[in-house]
Amino acid sequence: MQQQTESGTTRSKAKFEVVPISSALGAEIRGIDLSRADAAAVKAIRDAWLEHVVLLFRDQDLSDDALADFSRNFGELDLAPPMETSQGATHPEILAVSNVKEGGKAIGTLGDGEAIWHSDMNYMEAPPTGSLLYSLEVPPAGGDTGFCNMYKALDTLPADIRRRIDGLSIKHDSSTNSGGYLRQGSKPVDDVRTCPGAVHPMVCTHPETGRKSLFIGRRRHAYIMGLPLAESEKLLDAIWAHATRKELTWHHRWRVGDVLMWDNRCAMHRRDSFDPATRRLMHRTQIKGGKPS
Ligand code: SIN
Repeated sequence: MQQQTESGTTRSKAKFEVVPISSALGAEIRGIDLSRADAAAVKAIRDAWLEHVVLLFRDQDLSDDALADFSRNFGELDLAPPMETSQGATHPEILAVSNVKEGGKAIGTLGDGEAIWHSDMNYMEAPPTGSLLYSLEVPPAGGDTGFCNMYKALDTLPADIRRRIDGLSIKHDSSTNSGGYLRQGSKPVDDVRTCPGAVHPMVCTHPETGRKSLFIGRRRHAYIMGLPLAESEKLLDAIWAHATRKELTWHHRWRVGDVLMWDNRCAMHRRDSFDPATRRLMHRTQIKGGKPS
């Protein structure tokens, strides 16, 4: 399906180029307009996504409907999750990620602070397969989005930790988002062992590639089921320090019109803070997934 050139770039039958971005993960897809992707292009994009975990498409011009339509090529969409604010994008399947305020009210989620490493909607029984994030306004500096490769995080885990986590599961707190804001209707967590949220195995098998990866959600309010609290904290700290090492990550500097598409089953992501006096507006879709196992 794909031909490789000397530079490692591949050209698919769908006539676009797949250019690897970093040694950790990621590839840029060059030469495609996502609003006109046909079945052959979608198939080639899916293959590249499964191989590279995160894809970057530059210079796109997408309405909310076009973003949702393209995203639907990869599965049914989840509704946007509840935010800390009552406003958001006007499309039910699109989450507005923004610090912009209109009439004194935030039009999106996550503000201008750092968003910590996480998998999207990990607190659900069936977290999304993946997400697409499209940039409408970007600040002149900051607000970069980083990704880490959770296949590699598992493959390189020290053997003693790898043995210890086999068969263990994590409680994934649903109360607080990656920006540290309480979601609407949630109460502050005073004991991580009893916080609301789904329980998932720490080592999961990707249903499409068959590869094993670490699935640890987000560090804040996490708890390894059945362990004494102090032991859970210590083990989680060791795993997180390993999984987010620089060599397993890549950070993207945004331009308006970029689309990033990531595989939520084998990548985590985060976002840098940026100057509150500047504007950042992104629209995100999330592809419905299944129970991690
Ligand atoms: C997200 O966590 O989905 C948003 C990341 C970003 O704002 O770059």
